[in-house]
Formats: sequence, C-alpha cells, structure tokens
Amino acid sequence: MTEPRVLLVAGGSGSIGSAIARLALSQGWQVALHGRDPEKLQGRLVALAPLGTIDGFAVDLGDDDAAEVLVCEVAEQFGRIDAVIDCTASGPAGITGPFPETSPEAYGEFLRVSVGWVQRLAHASYDLLAQQGGTLIAFVSDAGIYAAPRQALIGAARAGTIGFIRNFAMEAARDGIRAHVISPSFVEDSDSARRMRSERMAKAARRAGLGLPTAEDIAPLALFLCSDGARRMTGQVISVNGGLNA
Ligand SMILES: NC(=O)c1ccc[n+]([C@@H]2O[C@H](COP(=O)([O-])OP(=O)(O)OC[C@H]3O[C@@H](n4cnc5c(N)ncnc54)[C@H](OP(=O)(O)O)[C@@H]3O)[C@@H](O)[C@H]2O)c1
Repeated sequence: MTEPRVLLVAGGSGSIGSAIARLALSQGWQVALHGRDPEKLQGRLVALAPLGTIDGFAVDLGDDDAAEVLVCEVAEQFGRIDAVIDCTASGPAGITGPFPETSPEAYGEFLRVSVGWVQRLAHASYDLLAQQGGTLIAFVSDAGIYAAPRQALIGAARAGTIGFIRNFAMEAARDGIRAHVISPSFVEDSDSARRMRSERMAKAARRAGLGLPTAEDIAPLALFLCSDGARRMTGQVISVNGGLNA
C-alpha cells in the first residue's frame, strides 16, 4: 500500500490555506497546518480533524530560523513532505495606497515576509521535496503581475516572489521539484475581504465577469498543481481572479 502524501500548508490557518487543507484531506493527503496564533490554529484543527489526518504547527515567521523549525517539526511528525503551499499573508500599514502615503519601512517588512519567507521555506524543504518529486507553491496577489494605481510597493514585492519561484523552478526541476505561483486578486468571504472597504470589494465584483472567486474556488487548482496530473508543469504563474485581469 502506498503511504499517504503529506502537504504542509504554511499560513494554513487563514482563509485560502484552510480551504486547501479541507480539500486535501478529502483527497487523502495528510496535512500539516501552520499558523501564527495557536488558538485560531486550534479552531481550524477541530473543524478539519474529522476529515482525515491533520496536525497543527504554530510558528511565528518573525524568527530567522522559523522555516527550518517548521519544516523539521513537520518532517519529524509525518516522516516526509510531498508538497509545500505557502499562504502566509501580512499587510503592514503603508504597503498599499497613494504612493506618497506608502512607507519604505512597510516595504522592507513585507519583502521579508513574502520573498524572504518563501525562499527560506524552499531552502528548508528542498531535500524533502526532492525525495518525493514534490511541489512548492507560493501565493502572491495580482499586484505582482498587473500594474494598478496604489500598488507600487506591494506589486514590487510580489513580483519578487514570482521572480524567485520562476528561477527556482528552472533549477529545481533537475532534482524533480516543481514550483508554481498562484495569484488571487480579490477573494470573496476571506478574512482579508472582510478587512477591506466594502465599496472596493463591490467595485471589483462588478468588474469580474465570472464573479470573484472564493477560497474554495482556488483550492482545486493548488492541489491539481501538486498532483501527478501536473507532473510535466513547472514555473507557472496562474491568476484566479474571476475575469478581473488577463
Ligand atoms: N484573500 C484575498 O482577498 C487575497 C487576495 C490576493 C492575494 N491573496 C494572497 O493569498 C494568500 C492567502 O491569503 P488568505 O486570504 O488566506 O490570508 P489570511 O486569511 O489573512 O491568512 C494568513 C495566514 O498567514 C499567517 N501569518 C500571518 N503572519 C504570520 C506570521 N508573522 N507568522 C506566522 N504566520 C503568519 C496567518 O496566521 P494567523 O492568522 O495566526 O496570524 C494565517 O494563517 C496570501 O499570500 C495573500 O496575500 C489573498
């Protein structure tokens, strides 16, 4: 009998990560769910545990060795890692908005979380992913692909993540590792949508011909990219935005 595959969802206690975890459990994956706030993480675990094998890992990515600690704990618990999906999100004040009002400090912080964290996760999980012919997926936002007003800093940082993953993918393919980027724009019913002004969401919803996606609309793509069906694909940047940007 083949052993169940193991998926690490970094930022898995959030909206998109927990939808991915739910679908992964229904497909027979074992899931390592990461988050920062232990209470919130525990709440997600209680809801998801009836669906399959899942464990939680509360690690704050503020520490330089956070990725190594997280990956080591998951490997110790499950014995293997077949896929890592990074859904961590941080939105320091001043990362978006009219350019004169944005903050160089917020940019540094955001860059450290987005590009810095993803490359550390890639380092920490490289050998484990290579053993399984595994997949690394980073979530960004459409600001990294499509230009728009008020998005200069977040767009630059997200473009950095995309540049990292595409270059990483070209090299890591030699070791059997695949890597992709998934890019939402506005996600209905997500925590970040709830934090956003409702008129911005309503305007985006009017422009999205297919309707804005929910986290449940995005999860199947993430798991397809980690599946054997996608074994000849790597380095792709796929936007799921309901027709907002193309
Ligand atoms: N939702 C949207 O509308 C939208 C739109 C465009 C792009 N995206 C991108 O899609 C991805 C997933 O978004 P989401 O809506 O699922 O985000 P979310 O609900 O805000 O979840 C964020 C996750 O990151 C974790 N996290 C944040 N700061 C952390 C830290 N310092 N240390 C450890 N964990 C930390 C959170 O844990 P805690 O909750 O415990 O802090 C949570 O698990 C992100 O890259 C986001 O930028 C989302």
